[in-house]
Amino acid sequence: MIIIKNKVAIEKMRTAGQLLAEVFAEIPSFLEEGKNTAEIDLFVEQKMLQKGLKPECKGYGGYRHATLISPNDVVVHGIPSKNIILKNGDFVKIDVVGAYRGYCADMARYYFIGNVPPIAQKLAEVAQRALDEAIGNIGPGVKLSDVSSRIQKIVEGEGFGVVRDFAGHGIGKRIHEEPDVPNYATGVAGPLLREGMTLAIEPMITQGDYKVLVLDDGWTVKTADGGLAAHVEDTIAITSHGAEVFTRLY
Ligand code: MF3
Ligand code: CO
Repeated sequence: MIIIKNKVAIEKMRTAGQLLAEVFAEIPSFLEEGKNTAEIDLFVEQKMLQKGLKPECKGYGGYRHATLISPNDVVVHGIPSKNIILKNGDFVKIDVVGAYRGYCADMARYYFIGNVPPIAQKLAEVAQRALDEAIGNIGPGVKLSDVSSRIQKIVEGEGFGVVRDFAGHGIGKRIHEEPDVPNYATGVAGPLLREGMTLAIEPMITQGDYKVLVLDDGWTVKTADGGLAAHVEDTIAITSHGAEVFTRLY
């Protein structure tokens, strides 16, 4: 069942999204060559707590950190570690869920450490464009499967791959609610979107083959072929006429 949010729930998710976007705005000044991903995680968690945002990933399925930090060929769900040290040329994705008064916002952004290869820039740009186009064309009465197809078309049109094994999702009191929001056409049509539905849309795209593997740590998702991957995510609500993006600053 897809949960329709009332005004009160929407307002809490809006606040969660805005506070989370404020936290993300502070990340670039902290990121630099030589920092390890565990200290980035702690930085983000402290900023969240200062703003009254609960780090919702912590404790989720046994996960022990506030953030997921995924460099280069790590697609998503990279575990912060003292042993992962940022170096010049790294292409890093940071994914965080924050809750405000019990309602979640889920957001991911990418960052370039020093000079990244042009292909990383291109991949990032295409992931961002796929997300923007999806958001720009969503609204009440739209079939979610058409949004998925649109994302796939944009990504594959640039010669990149679309990850199949992970998808965006409904979101609200819980990080993951119905429906799934795949980034490719699964062949199943629907569901029809309605005002008050809230979704986390998150294209995960690859330089080469779309196949991924999960490491023995149970979380880290890497491209099977070792190519680069991009990921970007926003939490949105379907409004009467389109969509409101909670995780971008107004
Ligand atoms: N954006 C991520 C996802 O939907 C957030 C995962 S939170 C975690 O998979 F708790 F699972 F880590
Ligand atoms: Co998500």
